This record gives sequence, structure tokens and C-alpha cells, in this order.
Amino acid sequence: MEDFASRIIQMRDEVVRLMVWEICKSVKDSENEFDRTVEYIRDTIDALKDLDRANSRFVIEKDIYAQIRRAPLGPALCMGPFNYPLNETFATLIPALIMGNPVIVKTPRLGKLLLSPLIEAFKDSFPKGVVNILFGDRRIIKPIIESGKINVLAFIGTSSAADAMRVSHPHPHRLRCVLGLDAKNSAIVLKSADMPLTVEELLTGSLSFNGQRCTAIKMIFVHRSRVDELLDGLSAGIAKLPIGMPFAEGVKITPLPVPGKTGYLTGLVDDAIAQGAKVINPGGGLAVKSLFYPALLYPVNKDMRAYHEEQFGPVLPVAPFDDENTAIDYLVNCQYGQQMSLFGSDPDQMARLIDPMVNQVCRVNINSQCQRGPDTFPFTGRKDSAEGTLSVTDALRCFSIRTLVAAKGSATNKELLTHIIRGRKSNFLSTDFIF
Ligand code: G3H
Repeated sequence: MEDFASRIIQMRDEVVRLMVWEICKSVKDSENEFDRTVEYIRDTIDALKDLDRANSRFVIEKDIYAQIRRAPLGPALCMGPFNYPLNETFATLIPALIMGNPVIVKTPRLGKLLLSPLIEAFKDSFPKGVVNILFGDRRIIKPIIESGKINVLAFIGTSSAADAMRVSHPHPHRLRCVLGLDAKNSAIVLKSADMPLTVEELLTGSLSFNGQRCTAIKMIFVHRSRVDELLDGLSAGIAKLPIGMPFAEGVKITPLPVPGKTGYLTGLVDDAIAQGAKVINPGGGLAVKSLFYPALLYPVNKDMRAYHEEQFGPVLPVAPFDDENTAIDYLVNCQYGQQMSLFGSDPDQMARLIDPMVNQVCRVNINSQCQRGPDTFPFTGRKDSAEGTLSVTDALRCFSIRTLVAAKGSATNKELLTHIIRGRKSNFLSTDFIF
């Protein structure tokens, strides 16, 4: 794995170039994604060493001698999404590999080109058959899972696709699923919010990579007394975001790579307008080919599609509230439960909201946007948003199973174990550790 990391660093420019051209992520964001992934590999190697050190010993309990480790689960099928084609593919591929599982990577429909320069590095760094890269459309997945030979399904994408795949396994109970799925993260802006800070965080939170992040803020609730300030701030902020091709210096809004996406977003905006919302920012919602100018929608209510659907694009639905229970009810009834953001400065009110919110989502962000990082933090979700937890250390657990070798403490057994360990005859029964 160390060898692999040093080989791919040399391919940074090529990988970034392919990502920029295929998924239209800006050069800066693509470079960040690459660097973050290399850091993730290094952190995973360190986490493995920690785990190995802790497990390179015997436990003696009630005269039973045991060595407890984490063993691999078996073949893993890893599938990342188009929006983080390198980072989120590697977020499952790397821990799967390092815990000893052979892997099939099925590339996303978009965001597959960057894997081609990496194939040589995989070939030179891992034994034959351990890393298998499969290019092709989604029809190739079903027969693989139907074979019953996949033990782990690691998938970042929609919950409907995950459900369809899981049921294709002839023994679904054998299939461990590690899933990062849909999300509709919301922000609640309280009366006491620091508005300049809130606007800044909401703009990045809703519009980084055009809102094409599972963690993006996709619904905003604001106390009625602060509506005008918020809308003015967001509208002015959107106007300052440079729009253009992903290789242009400083660009923030870029073309959307998914075919038909601008048509879908136009449908969301039209539906909201037909039911009484307005596009607040000048030019909002204009679409030219694959470019879509961010649309700030207000007032959005529960009859509108934008209130419920995960737009995964540059549409910012804003709803006013008089009573904070409006926003709480939204989160309670929402089918997703990844993260939320809370903006305010009144400690009593913030605390009153934090406590119910931690039972609805898996990360409550105080006065900041929703985000996955730092990657050492647990990343997961409730309801239809995730299964299993990804972080540097949690992922090692997801791709392995606690396994032990145990023996009663008789003189013969002790002698036997001593022979195996001193003679370094077993990989599992061993008190050596990786430096
Ligand atoms: O698309 C989902 C990503 O994991 C989001 O990661 O919050 O670091 O952009 P991020």
C-alpha cells in the first residue's frame, strides 16, 4: 500500500486533468480531492499499524489463551459515485484491501477515466487478482452479485440502487453492506444567527461543486425575522461566484456532467414557482446546455418537490419559520438522516435543538456547513442515508470481522502455541507487529 501511494503521487497531474474534463470539477477542487485521498491512504496505513499493535498479543481469561484479531471478509465489490470518483471509491477500496479482501471496483458511469492511469500502479503494487477494475454500465453488477461470491458490497449512491443490488444476492444475510446513500441535509437559521457567517457557510455548503455533494445543504429554514437579510446575503453571494469551465482560474460554478440534469433542476424550479415560490436572485435557474445558474427559491413549502427531493445541484430552497418546531418536524419526518447545520448564538436555544437533532442525524454542525471531513471523523447516516460507518479507523472494522484462536491453558497447548509463535509458523498467531 505504501508503494502504491508513492506511485500514484507521480500521476497527480494526469488524474486531476481527467477528473476536471470528465466531471467538470474545478482544478482546485480536483487537486484537493487527489491530495485528500493520498492523505487518507497514509492515515489508513497508520491506523492498520495501531490495530495490529493492539492485537499482537494474547489475552488470558478463565485459563483460556486467545489471540483476537480482525480477519478479512472475502471478495468486496466497491463502487464510488461520480461526484467524488477518486476519493469515495478509495474510501472503501483502500480499507477493503488493507484488511486483506480481494476487490472488484466497478467504476461509476462518469468519473471512470481517472482510474485508467492508476491501473499500472495497482498491477505493480498488489498480487495478481487482488484488484480488479471493471468498466461498464450497471447491467454488469447484477450477475456478479447473483453469483453469491461477493461478501461485501461497498456502494456510494442511491438507496434504491443499493436495495436492488442487495436483494440480488442468493444469501443476502452473507452480504455485508457498507453504504453511503441519499441525503437532504438541512440548515436551521435561528433569530440569533451571525448572518455574515451564516451566509458564507450556506453558500459553500449548498454550492461547492454546484451542490453535487451528498453532504451539501439542500434545504434551508430561517426564522421569519431574518428572512430578508438571509436572502439578500445569499443572492449577493451567488452573484459573486465565477461561472465557467472547470479549468478556468477561480471558477466556482461549472457545467453539470450528468445528462439531463439541467432539465431535472428546471422542473424543480418550475414546480416551486407554479406553487407560489419566487426565484430571488437575478438570473437564477437560467440553463444553457449543461450550465445551470444557481436558483435561490423562496418561500418553499411542503407541497413543492424542492422541499423533499434531493436536488444534488445548484438549487437553494428556503422556507421561513415562526416556531422552531416547523424545522424539527421536517427533520423528524425526513426519510434521510445524514447531517444538519444549526446557526445561532443563544446557548439555551442551541442546546434545546442539539439534543433532539442528534437522534435524527449523525452529525450536527454548529455555525458551519455540513461536511464529511476530517476523514478521521465518523461518517455515516440514519434512515435511508447510510449503513455502516466510514472513517479511517471505522472503515477497517467495516471490512473485517473479529476472529480468534483460543486454547485451554494446558501445558501441551502452551508448548504448542510457543512453538508456532517462536517459529513464526502462522500469520494469524503471531506476536510480531508491523513497524
Ligand atoms: O458526496 C459526499 C462526500 O462524501 C462529501 O464529502 O463533505 O468532504 O465534500 P465532503
